Parts: sequence; C-alpha cells; structure tokens
Amino acid sequence: MSYIIDDNILEELKERMDIVDLISQYIDLKKSGRNYLGLCPFHNEKTPSFSVSPEKDFFHCFGCGEGGDGITFIMKKENLDFLEAVKFLCDKYGISLKERTRAEEERIRRMNRIYEINRLSARFYMDFLSKNKYALGYLENRNISLDIIYKFGLGFAPNQGNALSKYLLEQQYSEEELLLANVSNRSEKSGELFDRFRNRIIFPILSIHRKVLGFGGRVLSKDVTPKYLNTRDTPVFHKGSHLYGLHVLAKESTKEKIVLVEGYMDVIGLNQHGINYGVASLGTALTPQQGDLIKRHGKNIYICFDGDEAGLRATNRAIDILVQKDISPKIMVLPNGQDPDDFINENGVLAFESKMTQALSHIDFRISKVKNNFLINTPEGKTGFLQEVAHILSGIPNLIERDIYIHNICEEYGISLNAMKQEVDGIATVRKKQKFKKLKSIPKLRPISKLELGTIGAQRTLIAYGLASIDYFNQIKEIMEDNFWLKKEYEQVFEDIGIYGFDNREDSKRVYLEEYKEKEILNQKDVEEIQKIYIDEFNYENIIEECVQLLKISWYQAKREDLLKEISILEKDQTLEEETELYKKIIELKGLNQLLKEIKGVIQ
Ligand code: GTP
Ligand code: MN
Repeated sequence: MSYIIDDNILEELKERMDIVDLISQYIDLKKSGRNYLGLCPFHNEKTPSFSVSPEKDFFHCFGCGEGGDGITFIMKKENLDFLEAVKFLCDKYGISLKERTRAEEERIRRMNRIYEINRLSARFYMDFLSKNKYALGYLENRNISLDIIYKFGLGFAPNQGNALSKYLLEQQYSEEELLLANVSNRSEKSGELFDRFRNRIIFPILSIHRKVLGFGGRVLSKDVTPKYLNTRDTPVFHKGSHLYGLHVLAKESTKEKIVLVEGYMDVIGLNQHGINYGVASLGTALTPQQGDLIKRHGKNIYICFDGDEAGLRATNRAIDILVQKDISPKIMVLPNGQDPDDFINENGVLAFESKMTQALSHIDFRISKVKNNFLINTPEGKTGFLQEVAHILSGIPNLIERDIYIHNICEEYGISLNAMKQEVDGIATVRKKQKFKKLKSIPKLRPISKLELGTIGAQRTLIAYGLASIDYFNQIKEIMEDNFWLKKEYEQVFEDIGIYGFDNREDSKRVYLEEYKEKEILNQKDVEEIQKIYIDEFNYENIIEECVQLLKISWYQAKREDLLKEISILEKDQTLEEETELYKKIIELKGLNQLLKEIKGVIQ
C-alpha cells in the first residue's frame, strides 16, 4: 500500500517528534550543556561522542561522522528507506497517513510505464547508432567523440517506419502507451502505428536524476524539415520546465557558472571542449520555470545565444525572465552568424572563456544595442539615446546597482547627475504605477471603441504568427512590451505557445488550437479563422507591428475611458484625500493622451 507523504506530513512530524525522546529509546543520553551526549549506536566506542541537539533537531557523532534528523536516525537504526521511516514515525506519533487514491496510483503507474518506454527507446536508438556508419560519420564530422556520445546517450532513429513501435509492442507495451509516450504516432490512413522519429540523430532529454523524459531528433540532411523535432508534452515531459544538459551540469560542474545556449548541439559542443556547465532551453523561448532551474543550479549566469537577429531577440527575452528572478545575467556576444558550437569548434576553449570574461552585464548589453540606433554625435541623437538609457536604467530593481549605472553613464557622456537621476526615477515611478494599474484593470477591460472588430482579428493574427515560428513568437513578445492583449483567453493561448508550441507543422497547429477549443478557451470561429490566416514571410514584421499597434491603441483608449469615468466620479463630491487622488488621475490621463498621440502618429 502506498501513502501520500507530502510537506504537510513532514511538518507535522517535525512538530510532534522530540529527537531527544526518540533517540533515548535506543541509547542512554545525558544532558551536557545545551545538548545531550551518549555512546554512538553506529560505531563502537567507550567514551561518548554522540551528541543530540534538541534546538537544532539534529544528531551528530564526532567519532564516526554520522548525523541527521530523527528520520535519518530511524532509517539507519531500523534499516528502512526514507518513506518507510516516515511511515514508522507517523505510526509511532499517531499521525494518520492518507492512502493514495486509486486514481493517483494509476497515474503514477502510467508515468512509470512511460519512463520505461523512454528508457527502452533510448537504448534502442543508441544501439542503432552504433550500427549505423553514416550516422556515426555525421557525428564524427561534427567533432563529437564517443565519450560525449555516451555521456549524452546520443542515438539514431532508423528510417524503417515502425521499427521502434514494433519492438516496444513486443515488450508488452500497449499501443495507447506508445502514443501517450509520444514515441509513436498513428497513421490516419492505415490506422497502424509508426515511429515518431525516423532517420534522425536522437538527443534523449534527461532529468537531473537521469530519467529519460523525452527526445529531440535532428535530421541528417539539410533539405528535410523540421530540422529538429521534439517529443510533445507527455505525462512525464513538459518542455517548458526542463533544460537540456542539466544532468551533466548537476553531476559534474562546480555550479559556479552556467552558460545558457540555444540548442542541443551547443550544449554538446561545449562539453566536447570540457565546458560542463552549458544548458539549453528546449527549442522554446525561456520560461519562468526554466529561470527557476537556472537559479537553483548556478551562481553566475551567462547567456550565449546565436549571433543573429533571432538570437538577439531570444537574448532580450531571456534577460527579462532572469531579471524577474533576481538574476543579473551576463551576455556573451558572438561574431555575426555563429553559435556557441561553431565558435568553440573554430576558436577553441580559450577563446570561448575569453568571451566569458568579456561578457557584458545585461544593462550594458542593452545600452550597447540602443546606441546603434542613434547618431550620438548630434545633440538630438545624444538626447534620444540618453532617454532610452534612462528607460533601461529605470528597470533595474536594485537601487544601489541603479545608482552605479547612473554614475557611470553620466561620467561617460558628461551629463548632470541630477538630471539623469530625476529622469530615471520619474520613469521608474510611472512604470510601477502602470504595472499595478494594468494588473488591476485588465480583467474588466472590454474596449468599446470602433476598433473592437479589428482587435479580435489582430489578436488572432498574432496567435497565428506565434504558432508559425519561434522567431515570430519572440518578435511579438518583444514588441508587446508589457502586454496589450485585450482578451485574456487569447493571451493564454499565445503565452502557452512559448511553453508547449513550435512544431512547425500544419497538423500540429490544428491539434494545438483544437485543444483550446476543447477547454472552451477558444471557440470554433477562432479556430477556423486562426487557421485561415496566411503567413506572409516577406511582410511579417509589418503585419506583426500593425497588429500590436492596434491593440496598444485600443488598450490605451479603454484605459483612458476608465480613467475618465473614475475622474467624473471623483469630481462629484470629494474629500481632501480624493482630491489628491483626482489630481493624480488627471496627470495620468495627460500622460495617456500623450502616449496615444504618439502611437497613433506612428501608424497614420
Ligand atoms: P545544428 O544545426 O545541429 O548545429 O543545431 P543548432 O543548435 O545550431 O540549431 P539551431 O540554432 O537551428 O536551433 C537551436 C535550437 O532550436 C535547437 O536545438 C532546437 O531545440 C530548436 N529548433 C531549431 N529548429 C527547430 C525546428 O524546426 N523545430 C523545433 N521544434 N525546434 C527547433
Ligand atoms: Mn549549430
């Protein structure tokens, strides 16, 4: 029988269990100062070196080094594993454990079956790699040694249609289980299962505990798409909550540094040169959960994405996520068009490490990027540039850090410290207010403007482009700044693309949308319309931009109307407090009017 053992149970146990009392039932303890002393039960001794601290809830033997809490003591003394020891103690202290429900048992059983399928599949792929000269040759050409192939469990999926499915069915796994694990798909024509990955190099995605969660597969020839194919989300795999390469980092690295890269091959290329602290997000924009993982596993975080436009956008997005987690990432800038794998193979590990020492703070990185947009030798250019800088600096949450940057910038460009400080603080205050206001007013927002019809279309269009490619998705995220979605259902569908999406296939786009229809987040019309939207590769930037502008205007207009309403209420009869409030709202309204004028100017 299995039981639910969660943090609540452990907390309760901690509360009820008295470690001195517990251990006294096994050996004699004598008080000595704040602690208790006795003869160690885990090694032979004549003078007591076994100490128990009731304050710390901890025992320690100075003789043999054993130590731990009450649970550890019982595990050792009664020779039980962790769960058995908890059960033993709960019985002893009268804490009743809830039995796992059938459904939970079933869920865990199913997950374990998927883990087994994944492990067998990984072995199967490894076996095929060892037998396939062509695939081995490909890896050799890319400078990947056998050691690294083993360390990452690389494999090869044969081009036989259903070799893996057949093998797993013979091992008594059911068709449903293979579909659930997403190692197989069902052919719509014949109804037979075929392998999801065919004729691809396989990258198993391993958890920290080296469980096989899913796979990535890369084509061997240039003309097959998609270049990379990943396991869809399954009961054991959620793309947005893992990082590729974590199993190596967790085991081997000192956790001083982490380099965040874009792709599987970057992590592998770095490891090939002895850098064991590279991780990649799995073909999606970095998610907050991945931000948490990064925070947990390293002290100094470096972002090293591809030196192209898409890499730049992904960098900005990753900076946002990490800064929200209180991490100050450093940015490594690679020569145009190179990724970390290319760079290290071409220039070696020393050159890579020197790029690390030259890495820019995320603030300096952003400043260097906006600098390119201005002619700073002209007065207008300089003013414009410094205003942008003020915007960037106003986003630094740590006030000391903010101050240091302000000082440096003022020194570098010979401007007055006070002026810059005022500018930065002003923006920071407005931003804080806006954020708060937005959060409060989004759900009740229903724009009543003429633009409403257009905004539905604009939001659908953004979803369609987001689904079409990771680049478009990132670009939309970036120009959306804070967030101008008018319908929170659309917002959810779009945001989830960053976590679950990107398969680049027409049918997966349909599946994705249908899922949201089933959950009643989208309706039939949404699904039809979004699928109809033509993706114009040559004009996408304009289209995305226009849609966002439209939403932005509607958003501000709706907000303006809200404000006007609030003002008219406040104007009626007011206390002193409300007068201040009124005054604040009027200032805010002025700011909004100005903003509206500015954006409308852009699109007219
Ligand atoms: P190589 O071309 O093998 O050197 O890989 P790379 O790491 O240079 O690949 P690239 O920069 O093209 O892509 C980086 C990462 O984005 C990959 O590791 C994948 O995780 C993801 N990715 C790239 N192309 C696709 C694709 O077509 N579909 C999906 N789902 N992910 C992709
Ligand atoms: Mn590459």
